[in-house]
Amino acid sequence: MSNPGSYPLPDRFDAVLAEQDAEGYRCRFAPVALSDLPDRDVLVEVRYSSLNYKDALAVTGRGKIIRQSPMVLGIDLAGRVVSSGSSRFRPGDAVVVTGQGLSETEWGGYSPWQRVRAESLIPLPPAFSLAQAMGIGTAGVTAMLSVMALERYGLAPTPRPMVVTGAGGGVGSMAVALLARLGYPVAAVTGRAALHDYLTQLGARQVLDRSALAQASPALGNERWAGGIDSVGGKTLAYLLAHTAAHGAVAACGLAGGADLPVTVFPFILRSVGLLGISSSSTPAAAQTQVWRRLARDLPASVVDSISRVEPLSRIFELAEEILAGGVRGRIILDVRA
Ligand SMILES: NC(=O)c1ccc[n+]([C@@H]2O[C@H](COP(=O)([O-])OP(=O)(O)OC[C@H]3O[C@@H](n4cnc5c(N)ncnc54)[C@H](OP(=O)(O)O)[C@@H]3O)[C@@H](O)[C@H]2O)c1
Repeated sequence: MSNPGSYPLPDRFDAVLAEQDAEGYRCRFAPVALSDLPDRDVLVEVRYSSLNYKDALAVTGRGKIIRQSPMVLGIDLAGRVVSSGSSRFRPGDAVVVTGQGLSETEWGGYSPWQRVRAESLIPLPPAFSLAQAMGIGTAGVTAMLSVMALERYGLAPTPRPMVVTGAGGGVGSMAVALLARLGYPVAAVTGRAALHDYLTQLGARQVLDRSALAQASPALGNERWAGGIDSVGGKTLAYLLAHTAAHGAVAACGLAGGADLPVTVFPFILRSVGLLGISSSSTPAAAQTQVWRRLARDLPASVVDSISRVEPLSRIFELAEEILAGGVRGRIILDVRA
């Protein structure tokens, strides 16, 4: 087996491992042998992973993410192919995986080595480094899936703004940057006044306080927005739908503020407003390849750098608490060897 990376293949290494006991899943750094990795066709030398809200739910055991024990966590990974049983990949290829069951039913990216199904892997577009790929990660793929869904619904830039909620978070930051670069006027909604300059630099024309939207909404309000991307859910999503202009649409991709949806049918039957569901983890890798092509075209690598920062994987437990408390700005890239 050839090893194009700078690290020799070790017998054992540490990974973030979750194991089930009587009280649920317990998660810790634990030694894993190369021979313990699942029987999948491509061995990847993982260089970076990332921290998503979903990762934090898995790491802290607060969400039902993990479906089998033991499980190596991390829903994203980027690295280089070490060996491949698939003709699609050769040693040395730069590859990325976002979602595809990682951390649920497939071992994930919080490990310096991983075996992955070839059909889950996407060749890394040359526009991005391995670290930048994880600066994008599931959050960026989700933001781009949302943009593409809105385009399929017929939306294009107009003077009426597009609204992005959870704008200071991973999906939100990516959505603000993407929509702004595509020519949409963006209203960014955040609970953190301190992020005003950050969001303006990403391209937001307006920054709104999230408390104004997280309230009981009339069945129909004034037509404030052409559409939007929502990672918050709950009353906020209901408010967005009630204030979306006729023939607009909202892409719903998250639940940072709640899983309920207290709406009436009026936005749908009186304004033809669309509610578009987005699920990145269930989007097949072939469709995700199109998403990465769009990201390479529409999202400058320098913007990814301005949204993300690199942290060592060794800090995963404190970072997981930080993101669940809504305290992370943009994206966290995890250096799995630090
Ligand atoms: N459907 C999919 O495929 C998919 C993919 C990725 C993520 N998601 C979901 O999308 C959401 C965001 O994920 P992420 O990785 O971007 O997380 P994140 O980085 O933590 O961003 C979430 C943002 O939501 C806002 N927020 C947090 N708590 C809130 C509350 N109680 N009420 C209103 N706003 C709140 C905060 O932004 P401000 O401080 O700026 O207000 C926070 O930064 C999560 O629910 C996640 O599960 C779904």
